[in-house]
Amino acid sequence: MELKKLPLELRINGELMQTFAYPHLTLLEVVREHFGLTGSKRSCDFGECGACTMLVDGVPHLSCITIARSVRGKEITTIEGLAWEGTLHPVQQAFVSLGGIQCGFCTPGFIMTAKALLDRNPEASEEEIRHALAGNLCRCTGYVKILDAVLSAAKEVQAAGAQAAVS
Ligand code: FES
Ligand code: FES
Repeated sequence: MELKKLPLELRINGELMQTFAYPHLTLLEVVREHFGLTGSKRSCDFGECGACTMLVDGVPHLSCITIARSVRGKEITTIEGLAWEGTLHPVQQAFVSLGGIQCGFCTPGFIMTAKALLDRNPEASEEEIRHALAGNLCRCTGYVKILDAVLSAAKEVQAAGAQAAVS
């Protein structure tokens, strides 16, 4: 039986995007190959490394094992959607400032996972951060600077929250 491309509409980083795609394609394939958003990385392609992590309605998903059609109607966020008007998200900025990046291949996945954690729990402890990041693998950094970056970003997010509460 010949597979047919079907219309597919996804909301990505606040924008409705449309394409025609084979129904078996993963979210990672569609986002990278149809929409040209290549920040999310294809590493293991097997659900093991976290490099492809995107947020679906704010929850981290491994996009290499998520069928694109299954997330129609949901809000998908990729690493390209984090910076706002030229300003990096605090998690992105902390990775840059504290050297949480070497080759960078794992970095988008770590950042998306950390962002989701701090969105739902800005007061996350070191243990909670370690737990949340356990599914993201890095072959370069030894994890120490990644952890430092997320702890630092948590402080930033808490300070911003306190500021917003006062003003
Ligand atoms: Fe998706 Fe490794 S590329 S988990
Ligand atoms: Fe190279 Fe993490 S920085 S895999």
